[in-house]
Amino acid sequence: MSSPSTIDPEQAFDVATEARLRTMPCGKWTRYEPDVLPLWVADMDFPVASVVRAAMHAHVDCGSLGYPPAGGLPDLRSAVVDRLASRFGWGVPVEAVEPMPGVIPALFVGLEATSGPGDEAIVQPPVYPPFFSIIDRAGRRVLHDQLVDDGAGYRMDVAALRAAITPATRTMIFCNPHNPTGRVFGRAELEALAEVVLEHRLWVLSDELHADLVFDGRHIPFASLAPEVAQRTLTLYGPTKAFNVAGLKIAFMVSENPALLAHVKARAASRMPGVNVLAQAATIAAYRCGDDWLAAALAYLRANRDYLHERLRSEAPEVTAHAPEGTYLSWLDLRAAGLGDDPCAALLERGRLALNPGPEYGPGGAGFARLNFATSRATLADALDRLVATVRGER
Ligand SMILES: Cc1ncc(COP(=O)(O)O)c(C=O)c1O
Repeated sequence: MSSPSTIDPEQAFDVATEARLRTMPCGKWTRYEPDVLPLWVADMDFPVASVVRAAMHAHVDCGSLGYPPAGGLPDLRSAVVDRLASRFGWGVPVEAVEPMPGVIPALFVGLEATSGPGDEAIVQPPVYPPFFSIIDRAGRRVLHDQLVDDGAGYRMDVAALRAAITPATRTMIFCNPHNPTGRVFGRAELEALAEVVLEHRLWVLSDELHADLVFDGRHIPFASLAPEVAQRTLTLYGPTKAFNVAGLKIAFMVSENPALLAHVKARAASRMPGVNVLAQAATIAAYRCGDDWLAAALAYLRANRDYLHERLRSEAPEVTAHAPEGTYLSWLDLRAAGLGDDPCAALLERGRLALNPGPEYGPGGAGFARLNFATSRATLADALDRLVATVRGER
């Protein structure tokens, strides 16, 4: 039997009141005018777990703020290795893990390392918008493999992907759990994708940053499917979403292909700084001691998700969405609400509610909006009042 949680939801999550959040010097709550409720960028509104804050304080107090050891603080990479094994059943050696100052920089160098100028990189829209700009900035071309909503949820169209691949297709930027749809792909889907990857000798940059934020079942790392899949995969993982420390800028590249990892690492070394030492201390604490907090956060988020979707069903049936299986993001279909291709404009102007505009997520994004429900229940309730009133034309 597991021991009872020491995390009090009132202290840990309900405490994220609007009044308190408006005093925070963070991007999410300072971007808009003071009467706008911001449920956009993918940060949680909750205070960072006390074990993580304490570890950062302790590191400051020990006074060692010089360059950390090459490869990171003692226990940094082993904390990642242990976590991948215990949470996802994926065993990798410590040499397979490389700290990076964020997932986006890692994806950029990963793309450069696995493709040449003018080559094609696959993405699965609607998807996290920076994927498009990474491909563009690297001088590669985007190949869309649009996810299909079959009524029960978003699915990969592997047959369409197979047909779309050309001799110039080199790399896939895969996102699982998927931002913004909240899909957590199952083994059969992953295996179907892996078949195409092996058939066409593609490289996979597998962005699994939200892997710790799964409500049902277990996240399956793409590289864990089979040794030959691992040889073609660079996985991106990190604590920033699950432990709400995105401002610390830390992530991990993981690959069981030493040549691939060395190649990407060499490119990274000449282009970007190492990882901040406080971010490393925070990561070790989160991974070694933060799972009690994370379990409580997931329970709170799940209840928020269910509350959000139930209120939409009963009060605004013209707004539809599949309940996400992971992440704290809901991908709202407002096409029947009559608010146009970018419903966020009306929601902001009339509802004073800031969400992420669907069209930015590429094909399949027109008429949609992304809502971040990682906030207190009271703040979410206020946001839903605004959303429902705007859709009903009452605001
Ligand atoms: C899927 C995904 N990848 C990457 C990032 C950004 O990662 P980082 O801040 O480490 O660059 C985000 C942030 O929301 C994300 O959702």
